[in-house]
Amino acid sequence: MVAQQQPGDLRHARTGIELRPGLDGVPATQSSICDIDGDQGLLTYRGYPMQDLAANSSFLETAYLLIWGELPSSDQLADFEHAVQMHRRVSFRVRDMMKCFPASGHPMDALQSSAASLGLFYSRRAIDDPQYIYDAVVRLIAKIPTMVAAFQLIRKGQDPIQPRDDLAYSANFLYMLTEREPDPLAARIFDCCLMLHAEHSLNASTFSARVTASTLTDPYAVVASAVGTLAGPLHGGANEDVLAMLEEVGSAGNAGAYLDEAMQAKRKVMGFGHREYKVKDPRAVILQALVEEMFDRFGHDDLYDVARAIEREAESRLGPKGIYPNVDFYSGLVYRKLGIPRDLFTPVFAIARVAGWLAHWREQLGANRIFRPSQIYSGSEPRSWMPIEQRVTSPAA
Ligand code: SDX
Repeated sequence: MVAQQQPGDLRHARTGIELRPGLDGVPATQSSICDIDGDQGLLTYRGYPMQDLAANSSFLETAYLLIWGELPSSDQLADFEHAVQMHRRVSFRVRDMMKCFPASGHPMDALQSSAASLGLFYSRRAIDDPQYIYDAVVRLIAKIPTMVAAFQLIRKGQDPIQPRDDLAYSANFLYMLTEREPDPLAARIFDCCLMLHAEHSLNASTFSARVTASTLTDPYAVVASAVGTLAGPLHGGANEDVLAMLEEVGSAGNAGAYLDEAMQAKRKVMGFGHREYKVKDPRAVILQALVEEMFDRFGHDDLYDVARAIEREAESRLGPKGIYPNVDFYSGLVYRKLGIPRDLFTPVFAIARVAGWLAHWREQLGANRIFRPSQIYSGSEPRSWMPIEQRVTSPAA
């Protein structure tokens, strides 16, 4: 006999578990991929501190660590880098499909469509085959940057340029996007940004990836599902909005007034706040150092002065509530200096996070049970059918 839900009771009748909006604090899975200490501002990937990886590793080495759980040997890394390099190209069919997308469309919609289309080329059902898993990981990590860069050129009315096998992963992406071989420092800083954005435990897009993975669908659908989730302004889309905010504030002297007005209007300050961190996001700390390294070498950006003023003025206004800069607050300033268009900031986030989504896809397959949470029903009691002539027009919900 299923226990009856009592009206207004936010505890599940059968399990007694209380409803938590946004699943705040509710463990939805067990994972060994990434750990966050939100009070201390600590982030580790498979036990390795983010600071150590940012200083010593590369994006592909970090992706390998996240997905297979250990840092690769030199042979394993060389094989993985070579496999990714060999799979960077995208079928003309996908490129031709992208040429039909409206140039005014958002690049995240183009990426979600093109990522899903990869599933048309590869079998869907071999997900219990380690070779299939390896091949899918290589293809997605290799092809996502190519598709992001391809849409940028296509929407400008140009043909996409082919990947260059003589360039490393990050340098090749910047080359395909800007049509210029990047400065080695720019490529290294971009590669570090990818490491910082690669994984972050059960954020919204990774949760989407795990829910989709739990149905045993193909990895291309898993990534497409996650891309759609990342696109939202409360998640990966915030980096784009931060730059718009900095331009709206205009000068450091306006920062305090802007914050007062935003708080008065109960408007969220983009790039601030986090469900887990109650201190400054450790990734924001590293990104700020990268911003300063970029500006020392390639010239200053006055918006950085605005950003620092916002952070300074927010300390007293938002700090007491545990609201500090998150990963999105400074990342856009790096991308802007690299010549990456603003509406490509979130696709760049996706290029990095594919590593985390694939790590969680593989982990979910290792101990799968389909996600099917419950609900607290708050709708109508059972009622009789109402013929249309007897219905009273009620305002649409
Ligand atoms: C990412 O989860 C992850 O790990 C995500 C991510 C990753 O790597 O995957 O880190 C990437 O998504 C970073 C976050 C990017 N989004 C933004 O910068 C958008 C602005 N931030 C907020 O929308 C918000 O902080 C969230 C979405 C990040 C977190 O939201 P929560 O945990 O649901 O918090 P909440 O909205 O319930 O707010 C709690 C309180 C509220 O005040 P009260 O009503 O209790 O008085 O804090 C306030 C909020 O108004 N608040 C903010 C704020 N964020 C929260 N007030 C002003 N500005 C903000 N940014």
